[in-house]
Amino acid sequence: MMIDPSPFQARRQRLLQEMQARGGGVALIPTAPEALRNRDTHYPYRFDSYFYYLTGFREPEAALVLVAGDTPRSILFCRDKDVEREIWDGYRFGPDAAREAFAMDAAHVIDDLARMLPDLLADQPALFYALGHDAAWDKRITEGLNAARANTRSGVTAPASVADVRALVDEMRLVKDASEIALMRRAAAISAEAHRLAMRESRPGMFEYEIEAVIGQCFRRAGAQAPAYPSIVASGPNACVLHYIENDRKMADGDLLLIDAGCELDGYASDITRSFPVNGRFSGPQRDIYALVLAAQAAAIDATRPGATWNAPHDAAVQVLAQGLIDLDLLEGSLDGVLENQDYRRFYMHRTGHWLGLDVHDAGEYKLGGDWRPLVPGMTLTIEPGCYIRPADDIPEAFWHIGVRIEDDALVTADGCELITADAPKTVDEIETLMEQMRDTP
Ligand code: GLY
Ligand code: MN
Ligand code: MN
Repeated sequence: MMIDPSPFQARRQRLLQEMQARGGGVALIPTAPEALRNRDTHYPYRFDSYFYYLTGFREPEAALVLVAGDTPRSILFCRDKDVEREIWDGYRFGPDAAREAFAMDAAHVIDDLARMLPDLLADQPALFYALGHDAAWDKRITEGLNAARANTRSGVTAPASVADVRALVDEMRLVKDASEIALMRRAAAISAEAHRLAMRESRPGMFEYEIEAVIGQCFRRAGAQAPAYPSIVASGPNACVLHYIENDRKMADGDLLLIDAGCELDGYASDITRSFPVNGRFSGPQRDIYALVLAAQAAAIDATRPGATWNAPHDAAVQVLAQGLIDLDLLEGSLDGVLENQDYRRFYMHRTGHWLGLDVHDAGEYKLGGDWRPLVPGMTLTIEPGCYIRPADDIPEAFWHIGVRIEDDALVTADGCELITADAPKTVDEIETLMEQMRDTP
């Protein structure tokens, strides 16, 4: 596979500058360990997002070392070439090819890191490292630091501080660069197509997992490596279980189906939810709740623009939902009272979005100095209000089990936001028309 190393190289240069601005030092960023699923079988491997963001390198057993200073250096540690293992497990770059392909200043085999670490740390003012993230790496790092300290009698100084490298990289990851935005657009388009297919294929009597399979097939056929998170295909009562992933219920006539599914493409997540009637026609109460959530989403989208704070879309969605629930007699009291007491949380208990990127709930602080941070162009986030009505004596039965969430992925632009998932049908008319066409074509 050919990789364009330039975006990764640019990110390393920026991180090196950030380190230099804090007095310099050395950063160590390992990738994720492989994880056993059972006995000798591993889970499909997924690299660490921080490591990948800075390298583009997808093999396990690797680490990046960045040395700030007058001649900043990027050093990759990775597995050696191994003819025997490559017969079983496939190609490995090895240090020489990896240095070239990923535009590193140097590359070594990972087994050399422990030996080289004391020298890499020597006379460096600080180590930038995600302490506490991985106990095995913490142990190696501690040993390296202690070995550097043991050399102090020969005039070497060991880093005086260990700073969390994630704090620096998180700020970079919050604002996406052009190559990230291009990937996220493609991931979003694949996931939107998967939701269209799910609408076309759904029929009463099918099992939720059949629709999960339609979605998974669409992801893979388009080249996406995996779902970015376990797909939620939740019909009827399951739509009110926020993290439902069993996907094993037979869908019935009259059910709503809530699907929260998005692919991961070259490391980047998409995250879409659509809710629609399995039989293709919304009932009256389903339509009422759907229209309300859609209006709440429209208000939140409107509030997503540069200068607005992170919380503005949530506040906007909550206002609309609270008023709508009062109008439908599902909540009692005044709007101010319902907002004040947070009575709406009975039906809307989650937040309206999260950062989106390499991780579906992406890196980045939501507050700065105690206040919600302002949105800036290049940020990517989800906008996903919902309404979930469980059976209760004080709720008319016609509303029971209605669970609706509408989730799109937004890119903050110069004057507002762009929904990169807009190809997934969303209005009542769009959904009913698409599903009617499907029913007419057996
Ligand atoms: N799919 C995870 C979320 O919506 O946050
Ligand atoms: Mn989400
Ligand atoms: Mn989601």
